Amino acid sequence: MAEKDEWTAVDRYLADLFVHPDPALDRTLERSRDSDLPDIQVSESQGRFLTVLARSLGARRILELGTLGGYSTICLARALPGDGLLVTLEIDPERAALARDNVGRAGLAGVTRIVEGPAGTTLARMIERGEPAFDLVFIDADKPGYPSYLDQVIRLSRPGTLIIADNVVRKGAVLEDDSDDPNVIGVRTFNERLAKDARVAATVIQTVGSKGYDGFAFAVVLDPAQGRDG
Ligand code: SAH
Ligand code: DHB
Ligand code: MG
Repeated sequence: MAEKDEWTAVDRYLADLFVHPDPALDRTLERSRDSDLPDIQVSESQGRFLTVLARSLGARRILELGTLGGYSTICLARALPGDGLLVTLEIDPERAALARDNVGRAGLAGVTRIVEGPAGTTLARMIERGEPAFDLVFIDADKPGYPSYLDQVIRLSRPGTLIIADNVVRKGAVLEDDSDDPNVIGVRTFNERLAKDARVAATVIQTVGSKGYDGFAFAVVLDPAQGRDG
């Protein structure tokens, strides 16, 4: 079996085992396809992973950059308590509207706020307003924006906040130090800054599956008083 086919087959096997039937998620994927949205949301297993992670942290406030049709939004918001909050940022008004509808059908409108507009602008406004810290941040918007989002989301965090970023390996393209692809330059710069930022302890885990070969970055925000990398 070709590598990618095998990753996809194993992903199917795992999703059949671990991802329980979920009409709201199924409908979200169906309506994303019908609306010709790109098929770039997290995979079923990755979505499940986000739910497990958010729940394990006991997250009450979650920030997401890049909503698309709301698939990962629903996975994250499902882990929140009834009085929790997920804020998700999306530049495209049609996508934001579709996501709002999908989140509503999933029964999660009460804990989800979808903010339309460029993430950088919305984050700047949130920092200025003194928005309370988030417990978990999922960065998944435009890749060239990742380096500046990193600094902004750290400013919306507290010691212990977990920051995850999607797509930081890009089928190995992160090795290309002479790349002129703005996405590759974006994630390379992000990884370099993340690695040396004294405010966090971080790593990247490579992943394979139905979306091919990629990776997630993980960073925990440190207490400046302790100021030591774990
Ligand atoms: N997190 C989603 C997938 C997000 S795809 C999921 O897994 O289900 C990336 C999204 O980021 C796209 O919908 C795109 O419109 C949005 N995006 C691109 N540039 C943006 C920006 N500057 N600010 C906010 N969102 C942006
Ligand atoms: C793309 C974006 C993503 O967030 C992703 O997970 C996969 C692909 C893209 O823009 O191609
Ligand atoms: Mg992604």
